[in-house]
Amino acid sequence: MAKITFDGIEVEVPDGTTILNAARQIGGGIVPPAMCYYTPLKGSGGKCRACLVKVSAGSAKDPRPMPKLVASCITTVQDGMVVENTINQQVMDVRKGIVEMLLINHPLDCPVCDQAGECSLQDFAFEHGVSTTRYEEERRTFEKIDIGPLIQLHMTRCILCYRCVYTADQLTPERVHGVLGRGDASEIGTYIENIIDNEFSGNVIDVCPVGALTDKTFRFKQRVWFTKPVNAHRDCETDKCNGNVTLWYKGKDVLRVTARKDEYGEVKEWICNTCRFDKKETTDWVLEGPAHINRASVIAQNHYELPVVNPQVIQDLPESTTRELERNPPLRLGGLNN
Ligand code: SF4
Ligand code: FES
Repeated sequence: MAKITFDGIEVEVPDGTTILNAARQIGGGIVPPAMCYYTPLKGSGGKCRACLVKVSAGSAKDPRPMPKLVASCITTVQDGMVVENTINQQVMDVRKGIVEMLLINHPLDCPVCDQAGECSLQDFAFEHGVSTTRYEEERRTFEKIDIGPLIQLHMTRCILCYRCVYTADQLTPERVHGVLGRGDASEIGTYIENIIDNEFSGNVIDVCPVGALTDKTFRFKQRVWFTKPVNAHRDCETDKCNGNVTLWYKGKDVLRVTARKDEYGEVKEWICNTCRFDKKETTDWVLEGPAHINRASVIAQNHYELPVVNPQVIQDLPESTTRELERNPPLRLGGLNN
């Protein structure tokens, strides 16, 4: 086990844990953002630099600071390590620069992008970006590539995080897409025009942190924050799919089906294309109840579960109760038809 101090908070984690995952054990607002790291995908991380932190003491044995900021998603902890994230001004300044760099070529088309409201880059820019750009050169443009009837590729939005490549590599028998070219000529493509077509291909939509890969069957149907997520399951016959999903309702219609995600936007269990694209009737599913979205994003708004008690306005409660209410506000549940 290794004991580290992260933003002044001590945490003990197994040897080999990354700094990012140690911070996630503490949780809350001190956790560094991650645009390319994705826990279920082997080899992910180290591409986007969103998660850079300052290591102000390397370990108990060698307490010298690390000379440069390090990517917390691929740097493992050492016993006695001291890490600074939100409390370090250099980290905050560099993070602004990373947002600026990621937005150099990213179009500002959130108003027409299906990912808006659940986009990691939108959240990242909201938290760390500035409202102007210094970029005057022409942005990159691409020949449009059709990758099939189910998935829409918008290459201009891609931040080259490689998550979709690892997903296709690790989940499907034959990967037909990848990152072509190098440097600023890199792009996601299929080399010889091809469609991405296999039973688990839809998962690239869920892992894409931006709107570069979106669900063609959901395209332009609804802003995600107006839809209601409901957890559901079915007996799925596809090998390796256990049929646990989230259905996104507008009124009584299921507009899209996705895998379930945790608070860091990571898929908990992969789902097959039959569940995702072919089962859009309520009768196809056993409903479990409203899905609780605990990510700090627009998507967390407007759903079934709303805090109804503001502990600050309740007088005369014992301090311990107030503290508990602040930590876990009670929730109100709404109906399917809102
Ligand atoms: S298409 Fe999406 S998931 Fe794939 S590399 Fe680009 S941003 Fe990442
Ligand atoms: S999340 Fe660490 S480098 Fe991208």
